[in-house]
Amino acid sequence: MGKESVAVIGSGALSISLSTPSSLHLQETAARIAGQNAMEKTDLFERDVPMWVFQEQVDGKNLTDIINEKHENVKYLPGAKFPENVIANPDLLDAVKDATLLIIVIPHQFLPKTLAQLKGKINPNARAVSLIKGVEVVGADINIFAKVIERELGIRCSALSGANIANEIALEKFSETSIGYTDRKDGEIFQKLFDRPYFRVSIVEDVEGVSLCGAMKNIVAIACGFNDGMNWGDNTKAAIMRVGLLEMKRFCQLFFPSCKDATFVEESAGVADLITTCLGGRNRKVAAAHAETGKPFEQLEQELLGGQRLQGTGTAKEIHEYLTHKGKVDDFPLFKTVYEIAFENKPAKELTSRL
Ligand code: NAD
Ligand code: 13P
Repeated sequence: MGKESVAVIGSGALSISLSTPSSLHLQETAARIAGQNAMEKTDLFERDVPMWVFQEQVDGKNLTDIINEKHENVKYLPGAKFPENVIANPDLLDAVKDATLLIIVIPHQFLPKTLAQLKGKINPNARAVSLIKGVEVVGADINIFAKVIERELGIRCSALSGANIANEIALEKFSETSIGYTDRKDGEIFQKLFDRPYFRVSIVEDVEGVSLCGAMKNIVAIACGFNDGMNWGDNTKAAIMRVGLLEMKRFCQLFFPSCKDATFVEESAGVADLITTCLGGRNRKVAAAHAETGKPFEQLEQELLGGQRLQGTGTAKEIHEYLTHKGKVDDFPLFKTVYEIAFENKPAKELTSRL
């Protein structure tokens, strides 16, 4: 069997800096890990890892040219070297043309447009892994993004999710992640691509459970942000996390009965990601500012995230739409209250009124 060729599909550059590490996003982190492993595991992977980067000008030069000369994103990631085999490419189709393994890591808002460009243009034998946290809801239909990618591109797709705040991984602080697969061989090859001494990967035959935990914990993190904005303290936050975990499980049992119970407690994608996002994620941060200031989420996203995208408010809205179609909104009191605070001007102090 030949070597695998890896490509990273993100859309590049944002306000990323190791001096302000909370602004680091995941695309470059994933590319760094894959690049390190492709460089070392020469029997398995082709050495070069193309990374689709959204093009822009820095001091009159293309950002992609600068990255490829200096192996550093001088504008957005000064001081953090990419392995030299990670090659920035502003042309999406050119970046993926040889790929047999696709790493897809973009905010879920931008996935449909990106998949439309890729449709029919990739190796039909390629396999993908989605690092996207969210769900697609169209009326009474819901899909995890691994399934959306399979449907649109006609290839198998696994899901990687875990307690993975990007800046900590880029600093090579130890963390764990989970890969959910439908075909074990896919789980094994992506495990080899991502596993590092500082980034431990477990694989589990539960692509739905891994994906849904990654999506729904963002709603719970919004609730924890409201809690923090109101200075309600740690006992309340723990209660929100406990109730949130139960609602995540209930949702999966009702609508995705093949999800494994063990994923919620034994996998990094489950309770561990819930905890890290509720303590240190962007959803928590922006929701805290909303409770403190009353400013709309869109404004705070721009003011606080420097172009990065919140996932949790969109997911709260999408899950609410789905539950409404299913007549089950009242079975999920925390999800319902988060939606009402974020979108219907309910005061944040009502957060625990139904719990
Ligand atoms: P981000 O929010 O940091 O970055 C925003 C990205 O969107 C940029 O790369 C930008 O170029 C791109 N973009 C902006 N407008 C666009 C457009 N019109 N079309 C296409 N792309 C556009 O992204 P991220 O943090 O890397 O998140 C990507 C996914 O990874 C999300 O689903 C997120 O939940 C997940 N994730 C993130 C982290 C993290 O700590 N950052 C951790 C785990 C998973
Ligand atoms: P935020 O999007 O809230 O920063 O969460 C990142 C994440 O998913 C950590 O695993």
